[in-house]
Amino acid sequence: MVKQILGPIQDWQKEKELLVIGFFEEEQLIGSELGKRMLDELSNGNYHILEDFKGKFGQKALTHRMWPKRLLFVGLGKKEDFTIEKHREIAGQIARHIRDMGIKSFSTEIFGNDLNPERIKAQIEGQGIGLYRFEDFKKFPNQVEEIKILAPMVDVKTEEAFKQALTIVEAVCFVRNLINSPADKMGPQKLAYAAQKTGDELTPKIKVQVYDATELEDRKMNLILAVGKGSENKPRLIEMEYKPKNHQNKKPYVLVGKGVCFDSGGLQIKDASSMMGMHTDMAGAAVVIGTLKTIANMNLPLWIVGLTPIVENMPSGGSYKPGDILRAYNGKTIEIAHTDAEGRLILFDAMAYAKEKYNPCLIADIATLTGACKVALGEHYAGLFGNSQKFLRKIKKAGKESGDKVWEMPIGEEYLEEMKSEVADLKNSGPRWGGAITAACFLQEAVGEKQPWIHLDIAGAGRIDVIGKATGFGLRLFVQFFLNEIKSA
Ligand code: BES
Ligand code: MN
Ligand code: ZN
Repeated sequence: MVKQILGPIQDWQKEKELLVIGFFEEEQLIGSELGKRMLDELSNGNYHILEDFKGKFGQKALTHRMWPKRLLFVGLGKKEDFTIEKHREIAGQIARHIRDMGIKSFSTEIFGNDLNPERIKAQIEGQGIGLYRFEDFKKFPNQVEEIKILAPMVDVKTEEAFKQALTIVEAVCFVRNLINSPADKMGPQKLAYAAQKTGDELTPKIKVQVYDATELEDRKMNLILAVGKGSENKPRLIEMEYKPKNHQNKKPYVLVGKGVCFDSGGLQIKDASSMMGMHTDMAGAAVVIGTLKTIANMNLPLWIVGLTPIVENMPSGGSYKPGDILRAYNGKTIEIAHTDAEGRLILFDAMAYAKEKYNPCLIADIATLTGACKVALGEHYAGLFGNSQKFLRKIKKAGKESGDKVWEMPIGEEYLEEMKSEVADLKNSGPRWGGAITAACFLQEAVGEKQPWIHLDIAGAGRIDVIGKATGFGLRLFVQFFLNEIKSA
């Protein structure tokens, strides 16, 4: 991970390699004091030197000089269009551009020269996350090692925003590494170990319990057990609890993340191309583990629990079968209509358990749940479902603020009807159409309408079908949501 350091604007003088300065289109190139000064120095007030540079969004101009060795002028576009999202995007783009130049360290302004904490976060996150690559199995030639951020003023607020952003960058990279790891390196045991290790690093703030298959049997979590039956790598349930002494909420928030370390489809096996990328089917679980890590690092005064059922969905002589009827943790009977609809099964048990044990103020689940959701929304928005208008609103707000974008989808009786079975209370797969919605309606049956619940389907937004391309979608969304919850408490 790139090291980022915050310093006063005067530190530009210490920069030897490269200094980055942003310009808005309408300000005739002069976005900041530093920018003006650099231009004056370069051209004696005669800006023709940069004639072709108009400050258009993404435009770049590189000049060589004595000290620092290079100046990189970056176009930010029109000031009014320079949203937080644009800021994040350009920060990442520029950092990657500099990496491609083979430069290992540089100094940069905070673009727009604005000290709003949201701007600082956008810049630090954009750069830090933008430079991420999955490097466990291959080292790339170039990497930026250090970025110095020049702030017009370094006060407590700036520093706090800076630190928060660093914590988030670190967590997103951690989560992406978990998701990107191929299934042979990140099976149920390893993923449980990662959660355990996260807890150990943060003791006594986080308590981690790992329930193995025997304990799942004792607890009658039959759906998790059924999905895990076909694999030699046995299922688990991980419970992480963060309960600081100063927590402000009487009832906890519970996050539940789908942890399918590999989804072959089970006996109703996927075809060759659909199976590619299915090592990332534990993205929800990774995000939950990473979120717990982040909120503990930030010492947020909220009581939050993370639950991640972890399995491999594999075909074998021991696999669960189409037509099996299972009794879920909450007593409901489920007919297996499709062994590839496994995510909703493991979440079902975990959510029912969450409700019974914690009586939470909110259960929020996150899962690479349905191809249908990916078809509906593509890779840029996650599907958002839920039964609580209040929390749906809050999640949408956090989505806008964090850049993890969500789009609300409907749920309702008519869809739930389609998940009813002739021989059991429910079946785990319905008709072809509306697959993301029927899956959500199925999930709600784990907790009921009265339990505030939201569901995020990140099949599209959470992953791209190649190793190394996990997004870590959900971490920034959840952290932003919790930060807002503190403010509104
Ligand atoms: N893990 C998949 C969903 C998925 C598909 C995630 C594509 C990412 C990209 C899930 O377990 C699954 O297989 N869902 C089935 C459900 C169907 C059998 C009812 C699907 O979406 O086809
Ligand atoms: Mn599946
Ligand atoms: Zn799956």
